[in-house]
Amino acid sequence: MNDANIAAVEAVLARRSVKHFDEPGPSDAQLEVILRAATTVPDHNELHPWRFVVVSGAERAAFGEALVAAGAERDPDMDEARRTKLRDKAYLAPTLVVIVFSPKPGKVDVWEQEASAAATGYAMTLAAHLLGVGSIWKSAPLRTGAVLAELFSMVDDEQLMGWVNLGTVASPPRARRNPVGPADVTRRLRTGRLEPWPQQSGEPVVSDPAASDPAASGQA
Ligand SMILES: Cc1cc2nc3c(=O)[nH]c(=O)nc-3n(C[C@H](O)[C@H](O)[C@H](O)COP(=O)(O)O)c2cc1C
Repeated sequence: MNDANIAAVEAVLARRSVKHFDEPGPSDAQLEVILRAATTVPDHNELHPWRFVVVSGAERAAFGEALVAAGAERDPDMDEARRTKLRDKAYLAPTLVVIVFSPKPGKVDVWEQEASAAATGYAMTLAAHLLGVGSIWKSAPLRTGAVLAELFSMVDDEQLMGWVNLGTVASPPRARRNPVGPADVTRRLRTGRLEPWPQQSGEPVVSDPAASDPAASGQA
């Protein structure tokens, strides 16, 4: 592998979500790359069961109100604190890319299409990280609702799949609380039998030190 590819893989391993953002959001050129990354995900039969809506700046108000309206549709007695909490989700970063899951009829199972749509969120966070743009995939327990549907022209079985917040990193992410490495979650089939999992063999779960230590993963 050449040096550039090694550096790219190291950057992938160091990706972290960002909680706190400053202005500015990504440039148009950065946003174009982030969205391009989203369109490269595995996609059975090239159905494109996803589409995206960019919400930035003052436009975030309409999204915030749609989230409140969706919450109120579910719970008309929602108190002001809950309304504020939902509205505030729209303002955590300068730019949001809303992911709309848009399943297509045909022989590809809906779950496969949803898996493809889910991959777009990761692709966006990864591309953002590689570009030095902070990102985090966010959601609310609200995937449908008349006002959300109207705002994003969601029809039929379309649903909100959350949104990716994008912006300038205000504070670097903390080390993971519960890091997991390949040894924790992977076993091989050997001569037709599955290697024992820790909980079955009594062996301690060994976490990947690189997953917990930003310095070890080159993210200090
Ligand atoms: C579909 C989806 C929705 C998510 N929604 C939220 C959310 O609303 N709030 C939140 O704090 N984290 C949410 N997360 C988790 C974050 O995106 C992030 O993965 C998590 O904070 C761990 O950080 P890391 O990506 O650096 O491992 C969501 C993740 C997924 C996949």
